[in-house]
Amino acid sequence: MLLKDTLAFARPRWTQRGFRRSRGSQDDGVTQRNVMGQLDGTRNPPLGSPEFDGAVWVDSGPSWLRGGTTLVVRRIRAEMEKWDAVDTMGKEFAVGRKLDTGAPLTGTQEHDLPDYRATNELGLTVISETSHIARAHVDSNRQRIFRRPYNYDEPPGPDGRPDMGLIFAAYQRDVGEQFLPIQRNLAEADLMNDWITPIGSAVFVVPPGCAEGGWIGAALLG
Ligand code: HEM
Repeated sequence: MLLKDTLAFARPRWTQRGFRRSRGSQDDGVTQRNVMGQLDGTRNPPLGSPEFDGAVWVDSGPSWLRGGTTLVVRRIRAEMEKWDAVDTMGKEFAVGRKLDTGAPLTGTQEHDLPDYRATNELGLTVISETSHIARAHVDSNRQRIFRRPYNYDEPPGPDGRPDMGLIFAAYQRDVGEQFLPIQRNLAEADLMNDWITPIGSAVFVVPPGCAEGGWIGAALLG
């Protein structure tokens, strides 16, 4: 649609390909898997909920941006040869969730709430403090982000190595208040960092939608 509609006055400079499962291939509400085989998207603010609205839509600052949002896009390569060499237990430990069901290591169902304090017979926390979910979790709904990752799978480069991973995409009211602290926590000590490599990152402002007959971004000139 974008290409078709802009053909008269614009040409694409570059394209980033990514994919999600086809609509209808699984029931609504079923979490999709990423290229690392994990259920990805379990703990997201539910679409249309007050948590979602409070986390995603801008509600202060310049009037042209109210009702809009911001988007962080990161191309994050998955080191597949190394990831494939890890056993299931190791993979689950790194994320803090089971690979098959997506349940937290302290639960049995995907949507069970993780218990970050539960300990095992050795006195160690069942969900490691450096697991991806422990490092990425925030308690306040206002600080949450809405993740909508795409997978990518490009042909191998000259070295023959797989070139695949996530086009990580996160929507939030405020990049500095929400995305950044989470990203810092992950950069500092996420076990998953052994198997993922950020390649590039960009931040976008998404103006609010418009009424019929209007156009997106009109408020900028108003
Ligand atoms: C290749 C990179 C990444 C992979 C493979 C990945 C994978 C996952 C998986 C499997 C989960 C658990 C299921 C779920 O709740 O969706 C998860 C949770 C999460 N991830 Fe990531 N992730 C990646 C990068 C990131 C980045 C860059 C951020 C933000 C800076 C992030 C933030 C989160 C958050 C906020 C959660 C939910 C934590 C909670 O339980 O409250 N992830 N991720």
